[in-house]
Amino acid sequence: MSDPFGQSADQDRYDIDFSVPLVHRLRFTQDCFGDDFDIIRDLLQPGATDASRVQVWVDDGLAAWDPELLSTISGQLSEAKEVELVADVECLPGGEAIKNDAALVDHLLQAFHRDNLDRRSYVLVVGGGAILDAVGYAAAVAHRGIRLIRVPTSTLAQADSGVGVKNAVNWFGKKNWKGTFAAPWAVVNDERLLEGLSDRDYRCGFSEAVKVALLKDADFFEFLSNSAQAIAARSQPQSRRALRQSVLLHLWHITRGGDPFELQQARPLDFGHWSAHKLEAITGYTLRHGEAVSIGVAVDVAYSHLRHGLAREVAEQTMTTLQGLQLPIWDTALGEEVIFDGLEEFRQHLGGELTITLIEDIGRPVDVHTIDRSAMREAMAMVAQHARGGQRTTHHSSSSP
Ligand SMILES: NC(=O)c1ccc[n+]([C@@H]2O[C@H](COP(=O)([O-])OP(=O)(O)OC[C@H]3O[C@@H](n4cnc5c(N)ncnc54)[C@H](O)[C@@H]3O)[C@@H](O)[C@H]2O)c1
Ligand SMILES: [Zn+2]
Repeated sequence: MSDPFGQSADQDRYDIDFSVPLVHRLRFTQDCFGDDFDIIRDLLQPGATDASRVQVWVDDGLAAWDPELLSTISGQLSEAKEVELVADVECLPGGEAIKNDAALVDHLLQAFHRDNLDRRSYVLVVGGGAILDAVGYAAAVAHRGIRLIRVPTSTLAQADSGVGVKNAVNWFGKKNWKGTFAAPWAVVNDERLLEGLSDRDYRCGFSEAVKVALLKDADFFEFLSNSAQAIAARSQPQSRRALRQSVLLHLWHITRGGDPFELQQARPLDFGHWSAHKLEAITGYTLRHGEAVSIGVAVDVAYSHLRHGLAREVAEQTMTTLQGLQLPIWDTALGEEVIFDGLEEFRQHLGGELTITLIEDIGRPVDVHTIDRSAMREAMAMVAQHARGGQRTTHHSSSSP
Protein backbone atom coordinates (compact mmCIF):
# COMPACT_ATOMS: atom_id res chain seq x y z
CA MET A 1 0.00 0.00 0.00
CA SER A 2 1.35 3.44 -0.86
CA ASP A 3 0.69 6.53 1.24
CA PRO A 4 -1.41 9.48 -0.08
CA PHE A 5 1.80 11.05 -1.46
CA GLY A 6 2.45 8.00 -3.61
CA GLN A 7 5.40 6.85 -1.55
CA SER A 8 5.96 3.73 0.43
CA ALA A 9 3.74 3.96 3.51
CA ASP A 10 6.35 2.87 6.03
CA GLN A 11 8.39 6.08 5.92
CA ASP A 12 8.91 7.92 9.19
CA ARG A 13 9.89 11.19 7.62
CA TYR A 14 7.79 13.47 5.43
CA ASP A 15 9.06 16.82 4.10
CA ILE A 16 6.22 18.06 1.94
CA ASP A 17 6.36 21.36 0.06
CA PHE A 18 3.14 23.26 -0.20
CA SER A 19 1.97 26.65 -1.32
CA VAL A 20 -1.18 28.59 -0.65
CA PRO A 21 -2.92 30.44 -3.48
CA LEU A 22 -3.42 34.06 -2.41
CA VAL A 23 -4.68 37.03 -4.39
CA HIS A 24 -3.38 40.51 -3.71
CA ARG A 25 -5.95 43.15 -4.72
CA LEU A 26 -4.66 46.70 -5.17
CA ARG A 27 -6.86 49.54 -6.41
CA PHE A 28 -6.05 53.16 -7.24
CA THR A 29 -8.80 55.71 -6.68
CA GLN A 30 -9.25 59.49 -6.76
CA ASP A 31 -11.98 59.66 -4.14
CA CYS A 32 -12.85 56.24 -2.76
CA PHE A 33 -15.59 57.42 -0.39
CA GLY A 34 -17.00 59.80 -3.02
CA ASP A 35 -17.28 59.21 -6.77
CA ASP A 36 -15.16 56.06 -6.65
CA PHE A 37 -17.07 54.34 -3.87
CA ASP A 38 -18.08 51.53 -6.27
CA ILE A 39 -14.51 50.28 -6.04
CA ILE A 40 -14.78 49.76 -2.29
CA ARG A 41 -18.26 48.29 -2.60
CA ASP A 42 -17.12 45.78 -5.21
CA LEU A 43 -14.38 44.56 -2.89
CA LEU A 44 -16.98 43.66 -0.26
CA GLN A 45 -18.03 40.39 -1.83
CA PRO A 46 -21.26 39.16 -0.27
CA GLY A 47 -21.66 35.57 0.84
CA ALA A 48 -23.99 33.16 -0.98
CA THR A 49 -26.83 33.89 1.40
CA ASP A 50 -26.14 37.10 3.25
CA ALA A 51 -24.85 40.63 2.89
CA SER A 52 -21.18 41.53 3.45
CA ARG A 53 -20.74 42.52 7.07
CA VAL A 54 -18.27 45.35 7.59
CA GLN A 55 -16.82 47.30 10.48
CA VAL A 56 -14.81 50.50 9.93
CA TRP A 57 -11.94 52.18 11.80
CA VAL A 58 -10.60 55.62 10.87
CA ASP A 59 -7.39 57.46 11.84
CA ASP A 60 -8.27 60.52 13.93
CA GLY A 61 -5.58 62.60 12.16
CA LEU A 62 -7.50 62.11 8.96
CA ALA A 63 -10.87 62.71 10.63
CA ALA A 64 -9.55 66.01 12.03
CA TRP A 65 -8.75 67.12 8.49
CA ASP A 66 -12.17 66.03 7.15
CA PRO A 67 -14.75 66.15 9.93
CA GLU A 68 -17.42 64.86 7.52
CA LEU A 69 -15.47 61.72 6.67
CA LEU A 70 -17.03 59.41 9.28
CA SER A 71 -20.56 60.29 8.26
CA THR A 72 -19.64 60.08 4.56
CA ILE A 73 -18.26 56.54 4.99
CA SER A 74 -21.19 55.53 7.11
CA GLY A 75 -23.69 56.98 4.60
CA GLN A 76 -22.07 55.20 1.64
CA LEU A 77 -21.92 51.81 3.35
CA SER A 78 -25.42 52.08 4.77
CA GLU A 79 -26.85 52.79 1.32
CA ALA A 80 -24.84 50.10 -0.49
CA LYS A 81 -26.76 47.03 -1.58
CA GLU A 82 -25.81 43.72 0.02
CA VAL A 83 -23.60 45.48 2.56
CA GLU A 84 -24.28 45.61 6.27
CA LEU A 85 -22.39 48.20 8.30
CA VAL A 86 -22.40 46.42 11.66
CA ALA A 87 -21.43 49.34 13.94
CA ASP A 88 -20.84 53.08 13.95
CA VAL A 89 -17.67 54.09 12.14
CA GLU A 90 -15.14 54.61 14.92
CA CYS A 91 -12.02 56.78 15.20
CA LEU A 92 -8.70 55.57 16.59
CA PRO A 93 -5.72 57.70 17.56
CA GLY A 94 -3.26 57.84 14.65
CA GLY A 95 0.49 57.54 15.10
CA GLU A 96 2.88 55.16 16.82
CA ALA A 97 1.26 55.45 20.27
CA ILE A 98 -1.56 53.19 19.13
CA LYS A 99 0.93 50.35 18.62
CA ASN A 100 2.16 50.74 22.20
CA ASP A 101 -1.28 50.48 23.76
CA ALA A 102 -2.15 46.93 24.79
CA ALA A 103 -5.69 47.99 25.74
CA LEU A 104 -6.28 49.04 22.17
CA VAL A 105 -5.85 45.54 20.74
CA ASP A 106 -8.27 44.33 23.38
CA HIS A 107 -10.72 47.09 22.46
CA LEU A 108 -10.62 45.99 18.82
CA LEU A 109 -11.08 42.31 19.65
CA GLN A 110 -14.00 43.17 21.93
CA ALA A 111 -15.62 45.11 19.10
CA PHE A 112 -15.15 42.23 16.63
CA HIS A 113 -16.70 39.88 19.17
CA ARG A 114 -19.54 42.27 20.04
CA ASP A 115 -20.53 42.48 16.37
CA ASN A 116 -20.05 38.77 15.70
CA LEU A 117 -17.51 39.28 12.95
CA ASP A 118 -16.43 36.03 11.36
CA ARG A 119 -13.87 34.98 8.77
CA ARG A 120 -16.07 36.21 5.94
CA SER A 121 -16.64 39.61 7.51
CA TYR A 122 -14.62 42.69 6.60
CA VAL A 123 -12.63 45.10 8.71
CA LEU A 124 -12.02 48.30 6.77
CA VAL A 125 -9.23 50.45 8.17
CA VAL A 126 -8.51 53.94 6.89
CA GLY A 127 -5.36 55.70 8.07
CA GLY A 128 -1.60 55.85 8.46
CA GLY A 129 0.71 52.84 8.72
CA ALA A 130 0.46 52.69 12.50
CA ILE A 131 -3.29 52.14 12.65
CA LEU A 132 -3.14 49.82 9.64
CA ASP A 133 -0.65 47.73 11.62
CA ALA A 134 -2.63 47.69 14.88
CA VAL A 135 -6.03 46.97 13.32
CA GLY A 136 -4.41 44.50 10.93
CA TYR A 137 -2.89 42.63 13.82
CA ALA A 138 -6.21 42.36 15.68
CA ALA A 139 -8.00 41.29 12.47
CA ALA A 140 -5.34 38.64 11.78
CA VAL A 141 -5.65 36.97 15.18
CA ALA A 142 -9.44 37.10 15.50
CA HIS A 143 -10.80 33.77 14.27
CA ARG A 144 -7.33 33.27 12.76
CA GLY A 145 -8.08 35.97 10.27
CA ILE A 146 -10.91 38.32 9.36
CA ARG A 147 -10.77 39.91 5.89
CA LEU A 148 -8.85 43.18 6.10
CA ILE A 149 -9.26 46.04 3.64
CA ARG A 150 -6.58 48.69 4.06
CA VAL A 151 -7.04 52.25 2.89
CA PRO A 152 -3.58 53.74 3.56
CA THR A 153 -3.69 57.52 3.89
CA SER A 154 -0.03 58.48 4.31
CA THR A 155 2.35 58.55 1.34
CA LEU A 156 4.57 56.17 3.26
CA ALA A 157 1.81 53.61 3.64
CA GLN A 158 0.67 54.11 0.04
CA ALA A 159 4.20 53.78 -1.35
CA ASP A 160 5.24 50.82 0.75
CA SER A 161 3.65 49.31 3.85
CA GLY A 162 0.00 49.23 2.70
CA VAL A 163 0.65 46.34 0.31
CA GLY A 164 2.87 44.57 2.82
CA VAL A 165 1.82 41.19 4.18
CA LYS A 166 2.75 41.99 7.76
CA ASN A 167 1.15 43.65 10.73
CA ALA A 168 2.40 44.25 14.24
CA VAL A 169 2.10 46.04 17.54
CA ASN A 170 4.91 46.96 19.91
CA TRP A 171 5.36 44.68 22.91
CA PHE A 172 7.87 44.45 25.77
CA GLY A 173 8.84 47.99 24.74
CA LYS A 174 10.08 46.60 21.43
CA LYS A 175 8.89 47.66 18.04
CA ASN A 176 6.81 45.19 16.04
CA TRP A 177 7.54 42.43 18.53
CA LYS A 178 4.05 40.97 18.32
CA GLY A 179 2.69 40.44 14.84
CA THR A 180 1.77 38.08 12.06
CA PHE A 181 2.26 37.60 8.38
CA ALA A 182 -1.15 37.94 6.75
CA ALA A 183 -2.10 39.11 3.28
CA PRO A 184 -4.80 41.78 3.28
CA TRP A 185 -8.01 41.13 1.36
CA ALA A 186 -7.46 44.37 -0.53
CA VAL A 187 -5.60 47.69 -0.52
CA VAL A 188 -7.08 50.92 -1.83
CA ASN A 189 -4.65 53.79 -2.52
CA ASP A 190 -6.76 56.92 -2.67
CA GLU A 191 -5.47 60.27 -3.86
CA ARG A 192 -7.85 62.68 -2.15
CA LEU A 193 -7.19 61.34 1.33
CA LEU A 194 -3.51 62.32 1.00
CA GLU A 195 -4.53 65.98 0.92
CA GLY A 196 -4.87 65.94 4.70
CA LEU A 197 -1.14 65.35 5.20
CA SER A 198 1.27 68.11 6.24
CA ASP A 199 4.05 68.83 3.73
CA ARG A 200 6.53 67.13 6.03
CA ASP A 201 4.50 63.91 6.23
CA TYR A 202 3.69 64.08 2.55
CA ARG A 203 7.38 64.04 1.57
CA CYS A 204 8.22 61.12 3.86
CA GLY A 205 6.82 58.38 1.63
CA PHE A 206 9.12 59.21 -1.24
CA SER A 207 12.26 57.97 0.51
CA GLU A 208 10.78 54.47 0.15
CA ALA A 209 10.28 55.20 -3.55
CA VAL A 210 13.96 56.12 -3.90
CA LYS A 211 14.89 52.98 -1.97
CA VAL A 212 12.91 50.61 -4.17
CA ALA A 213 14.02 52.41 -7.36
CA LEU A 214 17.68 51.86 -6.41
CA LEU A 215 16.97 48.19 -5.77
CA LYS A 216 14.97 47.48 -8.89
CA ASP A 217 14.38 50.15 -11.50
CA ALA A 218 16.94 52.54 -13.06
CA ASP A 219 14.32 54.37 -15.17
CA PHE A 220 12.26 55.04 -12.07
CA PHE A 221 15.34 56.34 -10.29
CA GLU A 222 15.94 58.80 -13.17
CA PHE A 223 12.31 59.85 -13.01
CA LEU A 224 12.55 60.53 -9.26
CA SER A 225 15.77 62.37 -9.75
CA ASN A 226 14.22 64.63 -12.40
CA SER A 227 10.93 65.10 -10.53
CA ALA A 228 12.18 65.59 -6.98
CA GLN A 229 11.35 69.31 -6.71
CA ALA A 230 7.93 68.84 -8.30
CA ILE A 231 7.12 65.99 -5.92
CA ALA A 232 8.27 67.99 -2.90
CA ALA A 233 5.86 70.71 -4.04
CA ARG A 234 3.11 68.03 -4.22
CA SER A 235 2.67 68.45 -7.97
CA GLN A 236 0.68 65.97 -9.97
CA PRO A 237 1.18 63.97 -12.07
CA GLN A 238 4.75 63.46 -10.78
CA SER A 239 3.71 62.49 -7.24
CA ARG A 240 1.02 60.12 -8.47
CA ARG A 241 3.44 58.45 -10.87
CA ALA A 242 6.05 58.06 -8.13
CA LEU A 243 3.63 56.56 -5.60
CA ARG A 244 2.22 54.15 -8.16
CA GLN A 245 5.55 52.88 -9.39
CA SER A 246 6.80 52.54 -5.82
CA VAL A 247 3.83 50.51 -4.62
CA LEU A 248 3.86 48.37 -7.76
CA LEU A 249 7.54 47.56 -7.30
CA HIS A 250 6.82 46.60 -3.68
CA LEU A 251 3.84 44.53 -4.81
CA TRP A 252 5.97 42.82 -7.43
CA HIS A 253 8.58 41.99 -4.83
CA ILE A 254 6.01 40.50 -2.46
CA THR A 255 4.08 38.48 -5.05
CA ARG A 256 6.90 37.55 -7.42
CA GLY A 257 10.07 37.92 -5.37
CA GLY A 258 9.82 34.42 -3.92
CA ASP A 259 9.93 35.22 -0.22
CA PRO A 260 6.81 37.10 0.92
CA PHE A 261 7.04 35.85 4.49
CA GLU A 262 10.73 36.66 4.83
CA LEU A 263 11.90 33.14 5.52
CA GLN A 264 15.26 33.80 3.96
CA GLN A 265 18.02 35.72 5.64
CA ALA A 266 18.12 38.64 3.19
CA ARG A 267 15.46 41.35 3.30
CA PRO A 268 16.19 43.53 0.29
CA LEU A 269 13.31 45.91 0.92
CA ASP A 270 15.09 46.84 4.13
CA PHE A 271 17.81 48.62 2.14
CA GLY A 272 18.70 51.74 4.14
CA HIS A 273 16.67 50.54 7.12
CA TRP A 274 19.17 49.07 9.54
CA SER A 275 20.48 52.50 10.57
CA ALA A 276 17.04 54.09 10.10
CA HIS A 277 15.44 51.95 12.81
CA LYS A 278 18.15 52.89 15.26
CA LEU A 279 17.94 56.58 14.33
CA GLU A 280 14.20 56.62 14.89
CA ALA A 281 14.63 55.12 18.33
CA ILE A 282 17.55 57.30 19.38
CA THR A 283 15.72 60.48 18.38
CA GLY A 284 12.69 59.38 20.42
CA TYR A 285 10.69 59.04 17.17
CA THR A 286 10.93 62.79 16.53
CA LEU A 287 12.48 61.77 13.23
CA ARG A 288 9.80 60.26 11.02
CA HIS A 289 10.36 56.79 9.55
CA GLY A 290 10.57 58.21 6.03
CA GLU A 291 13.15 60.78 7.13
CA ALA A 292 15.24 58.16 8.92
CA VAL A 293 15.08 55.97 5.79
CA SER A 294 16.28 58.87 3.69
CA ILE A 295 19.35 59.21 5.94
CA GLY A 296 19.81 55.42 5.99
CA VAL A 297 19.70 55.22 2.19
CA ALA A 298 22.27 58.03 1.94
CA VAL A 299 24.64 56.15 4.27
CA ASP A 300 24.12 52.87 2.41
CA VAL A 301 24.78 54.34 -1.05
CA ALA A 302 27.94 56.02 0.24
CA TYR A 303 29.14 52.74 1.74
CA SER A 304 28.09 50.85 -1.41
CA HIS A 305 30.27 53.23 -3.38
CA LEU A 306 33.28 52.82 -1.08
CA ARG A 307 33.16 49.04 -0.76
CA HIS A 308 30.94 47.53 -3.44
CA GLY A 309 31.70 49.39 -6.63
CA LEU A 310 28.63 51.62 -6.85
CA ALA A 311 29.58 54.57 -9.08
CA ARG A 312 30.25 57.75 -7.11
CA GLU A 313 27.87 59.67 -9.42
CA VAL A 314 25.00 57.36 -8.48
CA ALA A 315 25.72 57.80 -4.78
CA GLU A 316 25.87 61.58 -5.18
CA GLN A 317 22.76 61.63 -7.38
CA THR A 318 20.85 59.66 -4.75
CA MET A 319 21.75 62.17 -2.06
CA THR A 320 20.88 65.09 -4.33
CA THR A 321 17.53 63.46 -5.18
CA LEU A 322 16.69 62.97 -1.51
CA GLN A 323 17.58 66.60 -0.85
CA GLY A 324 15.48 67.67 -3.83
CA LEU A 325 12.58 65.83 -2.20
CA GLN A 326 13.31 68.00 0.86
CA LEU A 327 14.19 64.97 2.93
CA PRO A 328 17.17 65.04 5.32
CA ILE A 329 20.25 62.97 4.49
CA TRP A 330 22.00 63.69 7.75
CA ASP A 331 21.05 64.11 11.39
CA THR A 332 23.23 65.31 14.21
CA ALA A 333 22.22 62.18 16.15
CA LEU A 334 23.96 60.02 13.55
CA GLY A 335 27.14 58.92 15.28
CA GLU A 336 29.15 55.75 15.53
CA GLU A 337 26.93 54.47 18.32
CA VAL A 338 23.90 54.59 16.01
CA ILE A 339 25.74 52.91 13.22
CA PHE A 340 27.46 50.11 15.07
CA ASP A 341 24.71 49.44 17.65
CA GLY A 342 22.19 49.62 14.83
CA LEU A 343 23.97 46.86 12.96
CA GLU A 344 23.95 44.58 15.98
CA GLU A 345 20.29 45.27 16.75
CA PHE A 346 19.36 44.59 13.16
CA ARG A 347 21.16 41.26 13.31
CA GLN A 348 19.46 40.33 16.57
CA HIS A 349 16.00 41.25 15.25
CA LEU A 350 16.39 38.90 12.29
CA GLY A 351 18.41 36.28 14.10
CA GLY A 352 21.44 34.46 12.76
CA GLU A 353 24.16 35.95 10.63
CA LEU A 354 24.22 39.69 9.86
CA THR A 355 22.79 40.20 6.37
CA ILE A 356 22.56 43.68 4.92
CA THR A 357 21.46 44.47 1.39
CA LEU A 358 23.63 47.04 -0.40
CA ILE A 359 23.89 47.83 -4.12
CA GLU A 360 26.65 47.39 -6.68
CA ASP A 361 24.63 49.35 -9.20
CA ILE A 362 21.02 50.40 -9.62
CA GLY A 363 19.02 47.17 -9.83
CA ARG A 364 21.97 45.06 -8.64
CA PRO A 365 21.55 44.39 -4.92
CA VAL A 366 24.21 42.47 -3.04
CA ASP A 367 23.94 40.82 0.37
CA VAL A 368 26.83 41.48 2.71
CA HIS A 369 27.60 39.88 6.05
CA THR A 370 30.30 42.15 7.40
CA ILE A 371 30.67 45.89 7.53
CA ASP A 372 34.10 47.44 7.50
CA ARG A 373 34.19 49.99 10.29
CA SER A 374 36.66 52.39 8.79
CA ALA A 375 34.87 52.36 5.41
CA MET A 376 31.63 53.03 7.26
CA ARG A 377 33.18 56.02 9.04
CA GLU A 378 34.31 57.27 5.65
CA ALA A 379 30.81 56.76 4.24
CA MET A 380 29.35 58.82 7.06
CA ALA A 381 31.86 61.57 6.41
CA MET A 382 30.90 61.52 2.72
CA VAL A 383 27.21 61.94 3.55
CA ALA A 384 27.93 64.65 6.11
CA GLN A 385 29.95 66.54 3.54
CA HIS A 386 27.21 66.24 0.92
CA ALA A 387 24.69 67.46 3.48
CA ARG A 388 26.81 70.51 4.30
CA GLY A 389 26.86 71.36 0.61
CA GLY A 390 23.06 71.00 0.46
CA GLN A 391 20.35 72.24 2.78
CA ARG A 392 18.71 69.44 4.70
CA THR A 393 20.15 68.32 8.03
CA THR A 394 18.02 67.67 11.09
CA HIS A 395 19.29 68.36 14.59
CA HIS A 396 18.97 66.07 17.58
CA SER A 397 21.02 65.86 20.71
CA SER A 398 23.55 63.06 20.55
CA SER A 399 27.08 62.55 19.39
CA SER A 400 28.14 63.79 15.98
CA PRO A 401 30.86 62.09 14.02
N1 LIG B 1 3.42 46.35 8.31
C1 LIG B 1 4.43 46.74 7.59
O1 LIG B 1 4.89 46.05 6.70
C2 LIG B 1 5.04 48.09 7.85
C3 LIG B 1 6.05 48.55 6.99
C4 LIG B 1 6.58 49.82 7.20
C5 LIG B 1 6.09 50.61 8.24
N2 LIG B 1 5.10 50.12 9.06
C6 LIG B 1 4.62 50.90 10.20
O2 LIG B 1 3.94 52.06 9.74
C7 LIG B 1 3.98 53.03 10.79
C8 LIG B 1 4.28 54.39 10.21
O3 LIG B 1 3.21 54.73 9.37
P1 LIG B 1 3.03 56.20 8.75
O4 LIG B 1 4.33 56.70 8.30
O5 LIG B 1 1.91 56.09 7.80
O6 LIG B 1 2.70 57.10 10.00
P2 LIG B 1 1.55 57.08 11.11
O7 LIG B 1 0.56 56.02 10.88
O8 LIG B 1 2.25 57.12 12.41
O9 LIG B 1 0.83 58.47 10.84
C9 LIG B 1 1.49 59.70 11.05
C10 LIG B 1 0.50 60.78 11.41
O10 LIG B 1 -0.27 61.16 10.28
C11 LIG B 1 -1.65 61.16 10.58
N3 LIG B 1 -2.32 60.90 9.32
C12 LIG B 1 -2.30 59.77 8.57
N4 LIG B 1 -2.92 59.99 7.40
C13 LIG B 1 -3.35 61.26 7.40
C14 LIG B 1 -4.01 62.09 6.45
N5 LIG B 1 -4.31 61.65 5.22
N6 LIG B 1 -4.32 63.35 6.80
C15 LIG B 1 -3.96 63.84 8.00
N7 LIG B 1 -3.30 63.13 8.92
C16 LIG B 1 -2.98 61.86 8.63
C17 LIG B 1 -1.80 60.16 11.69
O11 LIG B 1 -2.92 60.46 12.51
C18 LIG B 1 -0.50 60.35 12.47
O12 LIG B 1 -0.64 61.38 13.40
C19 LIG B 1 5.05 52.56 11.76
O13 LIG B 1 4.43 52.06 12.93
C20 LIG B 1 5.73 51.42 11.03
O14 LIG B 1 6.24 50.44 11.90
C21 LIG B 1 4.59 48.89 8.87
ZN1 LIG C 1 10.39 51.61 5.60
